[in-house]
Amino acid sequence: MKAKLNQKLINLIEYYNLINADIIFKNIPIDRSTKLKTLNLEGSKLEKLNKLKNLIKSVKNCELKESANNMVFADGNIQSKIMIVGEGPGAQEDKVGLPFVGRAGQLLDKMLAAINLNRKNVYITNVVNYRPPSNRKPNDEEIFRYLPYLSSHIETINPKILLLLGSTALNTIIGDEEVISNARGKWFQKDIGKIKPWVIASFHPAFLMRQPDKKKLSWVDLKMIKAKINQINLSN
Ligand code: URA
Repeated sequence: MKAKLNQKLINLIEYYNLINADIIFKNIPIDRSTKLKTLNLEGSKLEKLNKLKNLIKSVKNCELKESANNMVFADGNIQSKIMIVGEGPGAQEDKVGLPFVGRAGQLLDKMLAAINLNRKNVYITNVVNYRPPSNRKPNDEEIFRYLPYLSSHIETINPKILLLLGSTALNTIIGDEEVISNARGKWFQKDIGKIKPWVIASFHPAFLMRQPDKKKLSWVDLKMIKAKINQINLSN
């Protein structure tokens, strides 16, 4: 009994360290630009993904989870070397349990098709795995609650190219100080646990639907991805 309680306490302390809980509770500016920590998951890729799903399912006291219908974990090919991170599920995604299946998803499919990619040769997830009520943006506390799972998810998939769609994904992975209009269309590398993928940010498809004039910039970013695929010789 005592040993069990101690282990619970150790797990809790490790978890709070991992999510930088002191930063959340002290309400000081968040520096997300350092190396992203990951969970120590063991097993095959599939086993690790299942462990992650179970960990996310066991998250407690989360407003998102309480109001959502389904967990939205991921879609696509787990062997892909190209991973895409969006913000969070919308109504359609919440219904179906898959990311980017609504209108923004249809545009994403078209964007991918423009550079000869599709859902079967990329892997897609979101910063948070449950739909924020009324499609609001997830707040810092929610983002940090799911960040250990997101960074471990990325490490497990081990992409060579990581595409961040929109400011929430950008700020979660790279840092608060970046704005999408400045950060988009630039390659950089980011330490995420044991991996260091090439990262590029671009506009979120939902934003592109509201601001179609920005599609030309999005096309520039897509062409950069295409060039990088050729440059690093990805066989997808
Ligand atoms: N927008 C996102 O960021 N993710 C989805 O899955 C759907 C819409």
